Amino acid sequence: MPAEEMWQTFFSPTETLQALGLRRDMTDIVDFGCGYGTFAIPAAQIVTGTVHAFDIEPDMIDVTRNKAHHHNLNNVRLYLRDFVTEGTGLPDASVDYVMLYNILHAEKPTYLLSEASRILRDGGTVGIMHWNYDPKTPRGPSMNIRPRPEQCEKWAETVGFSVRTRHIDLPPYHYGIVATKPHGR
Ligand SMILES: C[S@@+](CC[C@H](N)C(=O)[O-])C[C@H]1O[C@@H](n2cnc3c(N)ncnc32)[C@H](O)[C@@H]1O
Repeated sequence: MPAEEMWQTFFSPTETLQALGLRRDMTDIVDFGCGYGTFAIPAAQIVTGTVHAFDIEPDMIDVTRNKAHHHNLNNVRLYLRDFVTEGTGLPDASVDYVMLYNILHAEKPTYLLSEASRILRDGGTVGIMHWNYDPKTPRGPSMNIRPRPEQCEKWAETVGFSVRTRHIDLPPYHYGIVATKPHGR
């Protein structure tokens, strides 16, 4: 991860959460790879339930925990866990929204999407965000592992999501996709 001061210049988190389908009437939500808590913290200020925030790096968990304390948020639950090898461990059909933000270049993207589908309630939403497929972005994964939006949409559809909104522009450097878990899956 780049330094936090640089990372936060790339995003408008509250606007991004809204553009990617997070709503106030949602309760429990999950952040796959919370990093600096860039999105987990504003999400916890929006929803009434719990934000389950996962990361494999102890430092990222500590940063996000400190921010939650600083903002007097008691609805952020942190998990030091490798979700690629272990999943989330959350119950089936238990959450309303999943964030897969800047993570689908990781190994096993369809596994992450199927884990998202498993834990989402019917009708639940997954928001996907990633760096534009453009080598001129100032940061982001190398182009050989960076997914194009069409690839993310295809992965989401492969595991059974219905893509609701394709290629949302999130300037200056990102795009987003919103997909839902159909009822009765
Ligand atoms: C590029 S950062 C994105 C952070 C955040 N989603 C954002 O957009 O600001 C990816 C984060 O995912 C975490 N991560 C990567 N692979 C992981 C894994 N297998 N299990 C848990 N966390 C992981 C990294 O430690 C890092 O904090």
